[in-house]
Amino acid sequence: MMDETFERIADGLAEHGYAIADLFLSQAEVDAIRNSADFLQEADQFKKAGIGKQNDLQINEAIRGDYIRWLDKNNASVPAKVYLDRLQELIGYINRTLFLSLKDYEVHMTIYPAGTFYKRHLDQFKKDDHRKLSVICYLNDHWQDEHGGQLRMYLDNETKDILPVSGRLVCFRSDQIEHEVLPATRERLSLTGWILDQVADLRHL
Ligand code: OGA
Ligand code: MN
Repeated sequence: MMDETFERIADGLAEHGYAIADLFLSQAEVDAIRNSADFLQEADQFKKAGIGKQNDLQINEAIRGDYIRWLDKNNASVPAKVYLDRLQELIGYINRTLFLSLKDYEVHMTIYPAGTFYKRHLDQFKKDDHRKLSVICYLNDHWQDEHGGQLRMYLDNETKDILPVSGRLVCFRSDQIEHEVLPATRERLSLTGWILDQVADLRHL
């Protein structure tokens, strides 16, 4: 039963513009995703992430150093599909409880090699505001403070650092919360996505 988790996420979004939910994925679900062909055999299919969209896309390692691969809902592995279906359920819950009309999502798998980072930014594009909520689920076992790699959110009067531990979901308003990924001493894996107010286009796939 995810209802309590969904409720906490919706409350957090309504009250603070962000929410953190541990065990959004169980340890077994995380293991299955990390061991799926998506992450293991096909690691060479990941591409260096860019900044901006389509024609404006630029690669700039001084800003971000991660590698990504978009998930195709129709061809995702069974373990990845478990996650995507849960996101779809979350969208339904948020729409019902917060009276929104979110329509779809897009998700990529993400690898930050040791030493890489993503400087402070906002997730909405200048010319495209369809990304309403950012949702990131982490896949890293035994992550400790000293490994670094925190997601740092810039809130009104403080910053909040979140460790990328297995199964933890962070969700925040894409138009409001600036954030960054601090460098880590080890590889950092996640599923990074956005909930949209329109049907996702297939430009990534
Ligand atoms: C992003 C991002 C945060 C994280 O990909 O836009 O900010 O914790 N990711 O991985
Ligand atoms: Mn971001």
